[in-house]
Amino acid sequence: MSEKPVSYAAPKGIPEYFPPDSAGFEHVKDTLHAAAARAGYGLIELPVFEDTALYQRGVGESTDVVSKEMYTFNDRGDRSVSLRPEGTAGVVRSVIEHGLDRAGLPVKLRYGGPFFRYERPQAGRYRQLQQVGIEAIGVDDPALDAEVVAIADEGFRALGLSNYRLEISSLGDADCRPAYGELLREFLAGLPLDERTRERARINPLRVLDDKRPEVRELVADAPLLRDHLSPASAEHHTAVLAHLDDIGVAYMENPRLVRGLDYYTKTTFEFVHDGLGAQSAIGGGGRYDGLMGLLGGQELSGIGFGIGVDRTLLACRAEGVTTWSEARCEVFGVPLGDGARRVLVMVAAALRTAGVRVDLSYGGRGLKGAMKSADRSGARYTLVLGDRDIEAGTIGIKDMVSGEQRSVELDKAVDELLAALAT
Ligand code: HAM
Repeated sequence: MSEKPVSYAAPKGIPEYFPPDSAGFEHVKDTLHAAAARAGYGLIELPVFEDTALYQRGVGESTDVVSKEMYTFNDRGDRSVSLRPEGTAGVVRSVIEHGLDRAGLPVKLRYGGPFFRYERPQAGRYRQLQQVGIEAIGVDDPALDAEVVAIADEGFRALGLSNYRLEISSLGDADCRPAYGELLREFLAGLPLDERTRERARINPLRVLDDKRPEVRELVADAPLLRDHLSPASAEHHTAVLAHLDDIGVAYMENPRLVRGLDYYTKTTFEFVHDGLGAQSAIGGGGRYDGLMGLLGGQELSGIGFGIGVDRTLLACRAEGVTTWSEARCEVFGVPLGDGARRVLVMVAAALRTAGVRVDLSYGGRGLKGAMKSADRSGARYTLVLGDRDIEAGTIGIKDMVSGEQRSVELDKAVDELLAALAT
């Protein structure tokens, strides 16, 4: 009995990036990393999975991210592990474990890669999402908050984005949050909320302000705002952060109802919202988490950071038409017409690659027509065409793929000619 052929598909809700589109993905990621590197953030490579307890404690059990969306399983040693839903808890764990906070403060780190949340997939909302993030741990200085926000803004600007806004708020500190929490709990207790929402209010009442359901939004429209109950220190910190942002020309909107989806935030919190993305409009977000180091067993040090969604930022670039990256796989494409020509072109390609030029060749003895089609598809600026007769004459054809002009140059000079042409 013949078996039905099997066909496999990637898991649901996972965007894959392949050429030519992956050029945009790489450009967004690299541009965001570069903005962070310019401010002294060093790269940290984190585990893709960690002890489940790290996220439960670090991110918070009342969050959707931990309570509903984690990919949790027991490994073969029967330990409960979870695919990382975000990066901050892992960075803080690593800083504590490796004593990175024993050197100079702040510890400034950047990271990137896939994160996993079992969400309902839709445009811009994925189960494997890509982030570039940064964390600055150990100094509670409003200038550092402004730096973190400015790096994200810088990254978006460098990509050419302009149709986004920065929303910012303060979530207060240990001196004002408990009293405000009580006030909010009292307010929420008087509302006709369903049982599950009451339970959320009990664990973290702020989370109820973040409820996206219109009926809940309406109910909490008159909720007391933390902005009106900040401790003097938090209020002063917030004012100073905004003053720094004014100084460096980073535009913001204060949003006193901004509640982030993770439990660790204190004081400064922010989100970058893009107008061209529909429902999944947050392209990045972050804030301070002054209790997290202590909560995870480290020194009582403050911290601040952000996570930028690379997938959504790429969608934002497309929505704004700022796709400035090149999708060309190579700059030069070699077309050998015959065995002798192939030997020579393999050497020319090697010399050009050593000189830093991206080069591809036509393989498999294809004819001129098919090879030229490949040259076209490769996006190369110049195509080298070499026949066995050219070798005898000591020449090679260089075709300018933009003008269509082809000229013959001395074979010995081909590498220099191309380097000069590509440099103009
Ligand atoms: P977050 O707001 O949960 O923060 O995620 C940061 C960004 O990741 C979001 O603004 C969004 O662009 C992207 N993102 C999140 N979930 C998805 C999804 N399902 N599909 C596509 N993109 C998504 C954090 O993760 C914090 N760790 C940020 C942070 C760092 N706070 C302090 N330090």
